Amino acid sequence: MRSAILSAALAASLAATAVADVRAEPPRDLPQITTERLEQAMRASFGYDRLPPELKARLDQDEVQRLCTQYRNEPPADVAERIQKLSAESIVFPPDGKFLGDWKKGEQLSLNGYGLRMRDDPRRQVGGNCYACHQMAPQEVSYGTLGPSLLQYGKVRDFDPEAIRTAYIKIYNSNAALACSSMPRYGTQKILSIEDITHVLAFLFDRDSPVNKE
Ligand code: HEC
Repeated sequence: MRSAILSAALAASLAATAVADVRAEPPRDLPQITTERLEQAMRASFGYDRLPPELKARLDQDEVQRLCTQYRNEPPADVAERIQKLSAESIVFPPDGKFLGDWKKGEQLSLNGYGLRMRDDPRRQVGGNCYACHQMAPQEVSYGTLGPSLLQYGKVRDFDPEAIRTAYIKIYNSNAALACSSMPRYGTQKILSIEDITHVLAFLFDRDSPVNKE
């Protein structure tokens, strides 16, 4: 019995060593894949040449995406700073200075995951799909946990205008707040319009929104 446990432990540690070795030194006989070749393969698999411009844009990496890819989402401090700077520069604020739209529309957008897939109708409203990663209103029990819970988001921030502005920036371009964030860059990538973002913000910050109720 004892030796069975010991050999299981030995096998586990050998397996761990093997994995560690592979990661430390990739086998040399594998073909080297250049960035160009990778891009070519991606484009070919999505039929790039036949895509409408808004879907082509999904496959073209901008500088921020390129840097995050290059550093596998762990950029050194100076690159992270550049990513945040470029991202901040891309932000367009609401022209009328009004950050809060209609929370009911914001709720719909948060629940809605439609849009920007290959066969989605481009004339239909694209959703924010925020629930895929965040808890928001307490009544909704189906939500992802990749992002932090946004329960009571406005209330715990005393509905502070500065917090509203900060959240606008986060939603418009998450990389302005954190380089290589996994949250979509809704404004910069034209997933949501400025108006849509004000609706989603209202869902987080309106005093009447279910997000801020018990
Ligand atoms: C793919 C996952 C994902 C989606 C979808 C997503 N987020 Fe996030 N969000 C995150 C993560 C992860 C963070 C934590 C910070 C970071 O890593 O950027 C975050 C952070 C935030 C924050 C800041 C929270 C804080 O700490 O103050 C807000 C506000 C926010 N998200 C709002 C939204 C809204 C609104 C939507 C929909 C329009 C949305 N998010 C969609 C992943 C996501």
